[in-house]
Amino acid sequence: MEETQQMPLIGDEFPEMEVETTQGKISLPEDYEGKWFLLFSHPGDFTPVCTTEFYSFQKKYDQFRDLNTELIGLSVDQVHSHLKWTEWIEDNLGEKIEFPVIADAMGKVAGKLGLIHSADDTATVRAVFIVDPKGIIRSILYYPAELGRNMDEFLRMMKGFQKSEEEGVAIPANWPENELVEDSVIMPPASSEEDIEKRKEQEEKGEIECFDWWLCHKENK
Ligand code: BEZ
Repeated sequence: MEETQQMPLIGDEFPEMEVETTQGKISLPEDYEGKWFLLFSHPGDFTPVCTTEFYSFQKKYDQFRDLNTELIGLSVDQVHSHLKWTEWIEDNLGEKIEFPVIADAMGKVAGKLGLIHSADDTATVRAVFIVDPKGIIRSILYYPAELGRNMDEFLRMMKGFQKSEEEGVAIPANWPENELVEDSVIMPPASSEEDIEKRKEQEEKGEIECFDWWLCHKENK
């Protein structure tokens, strides 16, 4: 295993690297310029929870692509192991895995991204990196081995990121089914007295609704 390096953080550029995958060599993040990508690592091929995750990611792959988002899997297995496993999934579960899976047998990528957490462990943790069309890391998530991930949450995040960027708004908890503001979106915090006055004017015109000037929301278009 390569020595673990300082892992990148949210807001950092995704480290440039060439990786070996089930679909040949890929240059990250370069080959995904103009697209979002969600890179997810799993502990190992031929393991039960990981198999359910691959099946579910593939089932939702069209929904990710509709959001200009590509999926990339990763573990510290060899490419022939990934190929054998994904072949088993297709033959036995009826889903062809269409996204590439990085074969990181030497742990080079895992080391760069901080995907191996214990010094004496050789398996990648369940991690998710969400990277934007400019190659900037927008989210990093970790899950325990015994808990499979929720793909609907990642779809919600992709929709939320894109709405936030397009409209300059923030996204409330459990959106679009927030218990307080339902499917409306949050105005980012006011940063000046001028902003506060503007919020009050917008509220008077009925463009936004506020509990107070620092907690305003507006209709989800
Ligand atoms: C699994 O995918 O089933 C799994 C992998 C590592 C530890 C525990 C479960």
